[in-house]
Amino acid sequence: MKILLTGANGLLGSAIRTVSLNRGHTCVPLNRDKYDWKKSYVDSVTHNDADVLIHAAADTDVERCEIHPEICYRDNYLLSQHAAMLAASTNKKFVFISSTGVYGCEKSTPYAEYDSVNPTTQHHKSKVLAEHSIQRILPRSLIIRAGWLFGVGENGAKNFIANRIAEAKNSSSGIISANKDQFGNPSYNLDIAERIIELMELDFFGVFNCTNAGAASRFEYVREIVALAKIPVSVVESSSQSFNRIAQVSNNESATDWRSRAMGLASLPDWRHSLERHILSLSAST
Ligand SMILES: NC(=O)c1ccc[n+]([C@@H]2O[C@H](COP(=O)([O-])OP(=O)(O)OC[C@H]3O[C@@H](n4cnc5c(N)ncnc54)[C@H](OP(=O)(O)O)[C@@H]3O)[C@@H](O)[C@H]2O)c1
Repeated sequence: MKILLTGANGLLGSAIRTVSLNRGHTCVPLNRDKYDWKKSYVDSVTHNDADVLIHAAADTDVERCEIHPEICYRDNYLLSQHAAMLAASTNKKFVFISSTGVYGCEKSTPYAEYDSVNPTTQHHKSKVLAEHSIQRILPRSLIIRAGWLFGVGENGAKNFIANRIAEAKNSSSGIISANKDQFGNPSYNLDIAERIIELMELDFFGVFNCTNAGAASRFEYVREIVALAKIPVSVVESSSQSFNRIAQVSNNESATDWRSRAMGLASLPDWRHSLERHILSLSAST
């Protein structure tokens, strides 16, 4: 298949490029320079014989979205709606990347796709607006709710693991802290990309949670990162209150892959397994 991809240099977009090429597809990146949605972006989508448009571009800075909601809704809602309309008018399948953070704080156990959404931040509200709009425009679109992503992206920006490793290495006290209250699914960008392309190939549509198996608190996640990187520091528990965040992110962003399993697919590997794979690949490349 020929795939057009927005956000192609981001953490997930980079992995989608790698995986789609490995699986024999052609992937055409639509980066920011081709993404003027009033001009060239329109041209590059409509004047292209691609089969699928995967929309992975988003404003992913949850704190900034809270401070500048007008930019957040423009980039996460209007731009996504616009991309879906273009896909519809050019007969392309559409894949949208959302987040398991949309479920909010109604439960303390992992969410399934049949749970209702109650977003608590501007970022996650903008994702829900986009999801609903896209489903109205293209009822057969594929909506991926991704978990906490890790891996390497082309743009090298936000990188939770590299930041924690640097923090641990630079700790003069030999102690670092991590949130014991917030839960999610650490998820390898390459595993998530593999599942997205698989769902696309199968022509599945609708909402799919997409995470590595198993939930963890930030504390458990950071403890595992430090152990796998073999850094001799202690990780101690802190609470959500000590982080002083502007965005009221839910303490439970964890989810299960109920729908994928119900439709006959195997779960993705346990997050610890994929984290180990990733950290080994980092050590091999240094
Ligand atoms: N990272 C996570 O933990 C996580 C969790 C759940 C869901 N998701 C979702 O997964 C998707 C991919 O996230 P990611 O982690 O790969 O994000 P990322 O690394 O921040 O990359 C986002 C990409 O979107 C592009 N972009 C942002 N605003 C744009 C705009 N107005 N016009 C054109 N391009 C724009 C960026 O371009 P530049 O490179 O030019 O800035 C970048 O390539 C997003 O929908 C995100 O909400 C991510």
